[in-house]
Amino acid sequence: MSFRLQPPAPARPNRCQLFGPGSNTKLFEKMAASAADVINIDLEDSVSPGDKDTARANTIQAINDVDWGQKTLSVRINGLDTPFWYRDVVDLLEQAGDRLDQIMIPKAGCAADIYAVDALVTGVEAAKSRKKRISFEAIIESAAGIAHVEEIAAASPRMQALSLGAADFAASMGMATTGIGGTQESYYMLREGQKYWSDPWHWAQTAIVAACRTHGLLPVDGPFGDFSDDEGFRAQARRSATLGMVGKWAIHPKQIALANEIFTPSAEAVQEAREILKAMDEAKARGEGATTYKGRLVDIASIKQAEVIVRQAEMIDAM
Ligand code: COA
Ligand code: MG
Repeated sequence: MSFRLQPPAPARPNRCQLFGPGSNTKLFEKMAASAADVINIDLEDSVSPGDKDTARANTIQAINDVDWGQKTLSVRINGLDTPFWYRDVVDLLEQAGDRLDQIMIPKAGCAADIYAVDALVTGVEAAKSRKKRISFEAIIESAAGIAHVEEIAAASPRMQALSLGAADFAASMGMATTGIGGTQESYYMLREGQKYWSDPWHWAQTAIVAACRTHGLLPVDGPFGDFSDDEGFRAQARRSATLGMVGKWAIHPKQIALANEIFTPSAEAVQEAREILKAMDEAKARGEGATTYKGRLVDIASIKQAEVIVRQAEMIDAM
């Protein structure tokens, strides 16, 4: 129980975050023309160490020159355990214009990681009299990250989103898999000789959703590596949406439509939510806190559940 109200997450669409390496300049215009809500230009793991300086310079030029429309524009900097990250922050903040919205901090392990980037960003913003305050998103992709997920969510007022990075997370946890998200062959229960597959990402996802909802951030599902498996992507995305996540990464353009499909409330879901709200209005007028809708109980909690769906649909319609 708490007398504090749960803070709302940023009211912006975040159904799909499209990634592309900062070293691959031919992708920038394609990314900008895509249907993704968020663009993440990557300076980290999709860029080889020898290409870091060029990728950083390409990225700054693309932020300034490409028409990114209404998209949230984010750059994934290198991890704090590398010699690259401080230069990423300084050059981006000194040289990229105000079109840059967000910095993504990979492999966040504790609140102090966010604090360190915040201190550097705040210093350069002040020195350069930057008008727009850069926001942060972070990736939970290590044992330390998931153990400290709540303090990471609360670490700075700049924080807007957390993503689960399945591949690095699996490696850090010592999980016996090389898959990036999705069903894992060896993670099953047996009943009467029949296998029933479970979801090894479930715990990390719910921990991220809880931390995000507590502190008013957007919880996001990270990459699904096998971009030839549309149904696998859909299944993973549906589970994430059911748990409260608002979107998913695309590491190939064919995953954008899939993410938008799953994370846009369907017309039927929106209609049902509106009908529940109407049923509850009528119940309230009769002085009742609970009523029946399609043979099942709806009560005051159902109003909040229905409002989540209606608000999400209205935000997307308003784009
Ligand atoms: N954004 C926009 N467009 C992209 C794209 C991306 N991330 N990846 C590929 N495309 C384009 C290609 O340029 C190609 O365009 P064309 O039809 O005009 O020639 C088209 O989509 C089909 O691409 P395809 O040939 O299937 O893929 P590829 O071999 O060129 O690239 C990857 C495959 C995985 C290397 C590439 O998609 C990629 O770099 N993904 C992002 C990786 C990343 O950022 N990882 C970090 C986060 S985990
Ligand atoms: Mg990673």
